[in-house]
Amino acid sequence: MAMTVFRTLAEWRMIKPASGSLGVVPTMGALHAGHISLVERALNENKYVVATVYVNPTQFNNASDLAAYPQTFDDDCAMLEQAGCQFVFAPTYETLYPDQYRYRISETEISRVLEGEYRPGHFDGMLTVVLKLLNVIGADVAYFGEKDFQQLLLVREMLHAFQHPTRIAACPTVREADGLAMSSRNRRLNPAQRALATEWSRTLANLSLSCQEARDRLERLGFRVDYIEERWGRRLGAVHTPQVASGVEIRLIDNVALPR
Ligand code: PAJ
Repeated sequence: MAMTVFRTLAEWRMIKPASGSLGVVPTMGALHAGHISLVERALNENKYVVATVYVNPTQFNNASDLAAYPQTFDDDCAMLEQAGCQFVFAPTYETLYPDQYRYRISETEISRVLEGEYRPGHFDGMLTVVLKLLNVIGADVAYFGEKDFQQLLLVREMLHAFQHPTRIAACPTVREADGLAMSSRNRRLNPAQRALATEWSRTLANLSLSCQEARDRLERLGFRVDYIEERWGRRLGAVHTPQVASGVEIRLIDNVALPR
């Protein structure tokens, strides 16, 4: 079956399969093997899969981060089609935000710490767009990565809080051979920063270090550390790579499971 790209709810109503289980994989595009692992899992567990590709402006707390976010829609579609995905939802701002973001979802506990502390407004924008996307698609299951662990928790609890019929499935983090978690932002690392990024993932995963020791080691290497903390059975961290060799600072996040 050839892959179909659609942009509105009206189009989806006409082409949505009448029966057979449906999985959805929300993304912001700039796809890599981590995203594709979610699509593959969704295809294993469902007859049909919709990937959504939308760079959601309301979850960027920083205009230059939004402007620099990689947009590779044609390559994304080629990767999705290759993986066997049948549908791609690529909406416009006008379709998703007829209210101009006057209405929004906000959570008052989990969203206040870690990423929420360093990226004000990020989780409101993320939760709002995820609810809109899941409402449009009407899937049985939505696939989210553990790479963004706080996001996964927030979406899971939002779906529960709003009695949403879509279930959530958590998928493990896909890593490069050296351990760096795959991320759309990794393409912005220059070679010197990419080499340092290995130290970032190794240090975060080294549980023989305390959080403070991990932070000290990263700071000695030139990273600016937002946080390294343990919560929810995980060690989670966020850092900015140094601006080596005329590169700009790139923010990286990751987390690892703690032994039970
Ligand atoms: P994005 O960063 O494109 O990620 C889309 C999905 O892919 C998320 O569920 C994320 O956790 C997962 N993912 C990213 N890198 C991964 C990796 N290395 N291994 C496994 N899964 C990975 O997260 C977003 O987009 C947005 O916030 C979104 C939910 C689409 C709302 O706009």
